Amino acid sequence: MKKTFLLILMLAVIMQSMNSCKKESDPDPEPETPSDLQMAVFSDPHYHDPTLGISGEAFDAYLMQDRKMIAQSKPIIESVIQNLKKSSASVILIPGDLTKDGEKMNHEKFAALLAELESAGKRVFVIPGNHDINNPQSFSYSGSATTLIPTVSAAEFSTIYAQFGYNEALYRDPNSLGYVVTLNANTWLLAMDGCRYNENGAVSITGGKFSDVSYLWIKEKLTEAKNKNIKVIGMVHHGLVEHYPGQSIMFAEYLLENWQTTSAELADLGLQIVFTGHYHAQDIAKKDGANGHFLFDIETGSLVTWPVPYRTVTFTTTNKLVVSTSHLTTLTGYPDFEAFSRTYLQQGMDTLVKLQLMYPPYSLPYEQTAMIAPLVVSGFIAHYHGDEVIDPITQGGVDALIGMGGTAALLGMSIQGMFSDPAPVDQNLEIDLTTGNITPK
Ligand SMILES: [Fe+2]
Repeated sequence: MKKTFLLILMLAVIMQSMNSCKKESDPDPEPETPSDLQMAVFSDPHYHDPTLGISGEAFDAYLMQDRKMIAQSKPIIESVIQNLKKSSASVILIPGDLTKDGEKMNHEKFAALLAELESAGKRVFVIPGNHDINNPQSFSYSGSATTLIPTVSAAEFSTIYAQFGYNEALYRDPNSLGYVVTLNANTWLLAMDGCRYNENGAVSITGGKFSDVSYLWIKEKLTEAKNKNIKVIGMVHHGLVEHYPGQSIMFAEYLLENWQTTSAELADLGLQIVFTGHYHAQDIAKKDGANGHFLFDIETGSLVTWPVPYRTVTFTTTNKLVVSTSHLTTLTGYPDFEAFSRTYLQQGMDTLVKLQLMYPPYSLPYEQTAMIAPLVVSGFIAHYHGDEVIDPITQGGVDALIGMGGTAALLGMSIQGMFSDPAPVDQNLEIDLTTGNITPK
């Protein structure tokens, strides 16, 4: 039991290390008449403005414990925004972790980039992530100096992003940053806020939960939509459905508290689709509720973590959801950005995992560390990418670990869990929302 706890602790620390949410202006265009609804989703952009420091001793020390591509976040986000401007998507959804760590300046700069999308005729909607509000790790970096800088309150968040949900809301949750907007004549977006920024102390809280009053508000809005025969698309930062067996044990903070009951109840109230982020993985998971009801949790990976994915989604008038995945594979200044981003993740993870294994409480000998670390890294990389496949050599290594018994076996089983990918497929598919059936594309 103690070993199991230590294993869970170690993997949680590794994951934590990887992961550490316009001003008033003209209203958005009128909702569209019913037709195919073209959307795009990107998540966890973790914008960090270069003027707050992206080099030097202090910033490098920060990167050693957080291997997100924070230094590249601005050009990555700008490139994706340019791609989305040219896309047919009329609605852009961003389920949280908008900034590195809730810095006010980063929010303002990111909102200015989103304004470009709206100027191009898109409607953009955001919800906060666990990093975005009241964050005590809101820092700038210069040389060897790390300096505390202003973060934002929940009220400031809704002001900065007024144009991206809050000003045009049909309803706002009086107890959180949740809201409802009309996407077209018979479709609502239900943006839900499960972040716990009100409880932040010396560190920000990674986990998420709906307060009792917010959960009542969510159920009330779903009931109203059901009575009015309106379809609802959900968006929330934390996962609502477990994405692989064991995630809820190893990484409970990446799922909303009470996710099992909540997802079943929301499915029964007619919620069939929810867009999530947080774990930096590209994964889709299905929850079956009562009476044939179902809920698909469509998680989108992070723009600052390989493979830098974003999704395009069409909600058809025939009640189908067609989901496609794109990746940012080129970036000005990088001869091979795809290789750079993969190597960045792989090397960063390798260092972090080895440190965890070599030092207490594990204190594994170098030979075991050298054998186990690449397998753990492979598991994370496969899960981040989605549609996980385990190659025979890695499978052989995992089998050998499991055969060793003890802590090694527990590690092996955990890695096997990360490689397992319950249906449906993760990247390109069509979901029939009348039946819940899937057609891979
Ligand atoms: Fe994140």
